[in-house]
Amino acid sequence: MKHIYNEGSSDRTLLLLHGTGGTEQDLLQIAEMIDSSANVLSVRGNVSENGMARFFRRLEEGVFDEEDLIKQTKDLNDFLTKASGDYQFDRDNIVAIGYSNGANIAGSLLFHHEQALKGAILHHPMVPRRGITLPDLTGMNVFIGAGHNDPLCTEAESKELYEILEGNGAHVTLHWENQGHQLTLPEVDAAKLWYKEKF
Ligand code: MLT
Repeated sequence: MKHIYNEGSSDRTLLLLHGTGGTEQDLLQIAEMIDSSANVLSVRGNVSENGMARFFRRLEEGVFDEEDLIKQTKDLNDFLTKASGDYQFDRDNIVAIGYSNGANIAGSLLFHHEQALKGAILHHPMVPRRGITLPDLTGMNVFIGAGHNDPLCTEAESKELYEILEGNGAHVTLHWENQGHQLTLPEVDAAKLWYKEKF
């Protein structure tokens, strides 16, 4: 996968996953704000939707191609394992930071692959899949940044994701803003405070 790796001075690695149409550059500043000592692995989505990079295909806005989601999630999980060997970072100490489509594939890692991540900051995520059994998420810390007026990731869906993750053992913080689907500075500040408390 096309990516950037910047070595830090701590044992933690931040995995950055951009939104639709983004690149591996998008969340670098946010990673710096959240934890400037961590390694950074920022990945570009492998799927192109009319030239816009994404992490998996969708059938229409908000409707995921589940088969592709499952495949791309596995590929990303395998890539993390390979990258940890190539760059010599701790595979068991990865915290994902994802926005929108990137938050959705990070959520999908939690739904499908036990211990893929140590924790996750999900900015405006959706429920990646329904009706499946999740791995045991005991001890997993997750921050959800949601919008009361987010038309894509609705209030109800944000709460549903919170319930599913909590129901499988994760500790989830659900933070609300009022700026639609946008990722705003107050939301990043809230994620930063959460991260400092949890890690
Ligand atoms: C998705 O397809 O992952 C969501 O609709 C969010 C987005 O537009 O990327």
